[in-house]
Amino acid sequence: MKNIIAIVSILIGMIGSNLVFADCGEMHENMKKNHHEMNMTDTRISLGLPEKMKQHQLSNMRSHVEAVKSIVGLMSENKFDEASKIAHAKLGLTPEMKEMCKMFSNEEFKKLGLAFHKSGDDLSDTLQTKDVNTSLRALNKTMQYCVECHATYRQ
Ligand code: HEC
Repeated sequence: MKNIIAIVSILIGMIGSNLVFADCGEMHENMKKNHHEMNMTDTRISLGLPEKMKQHQLSNMRSHVEAVKSIVGLMSENKFDEASKIAHAKLGLTPEMKEMCKMFSNEEFKKLGLAFHKSGDDLSDTLQTKDVNTSLRALNKTMQYCVECHATYRQ
């Protein structure tokens, strides 16, 4: 079970700053490196969201991260049914999520969002097998969408 936590922690770290586990010395090195590599410009594609949609999207995103945390925690307690429910309700392609994805004008972003939510439903189905390794693979797939989208788009 420690492995699950470790793998997912690493993935979550990648979403955010990937500096989460770095000590101060390393962090400083990373900051210098990022500064150099990125030249302080954000080259990701902007979605041009209006202010209201921005807050809505961010709060949704925070709930995505919370869902991943809950799923990992429940898996570590062998509560696969509960984890499966959360995967569907919070990450899956529910009618609400479908509606929200439709609101974006960027077609590629929309496609990526829908594929991501579909993978949330696949994760939900896989969790029902109660198999740790296949479930982790499914979670890894879902989180690949988090990473890919964050690398490509900004608000
Ligand atoms: C289809 C695209 C897409 C997918 C998939 C996606 N996100 Fe995001 N996420 C975004 C965008 C766009 C932002 C805003 C980034 C910016 O403007 O810098 C964001 C921001 C965030 C934030 C910052 C929230 C805040 O309050 O500042 C978190 C946390 C986050 N996402 C978590 C996740 C997690 C976890 C997943 C996967 C389980 C995920 N996201 C999947 C597009 C996506």
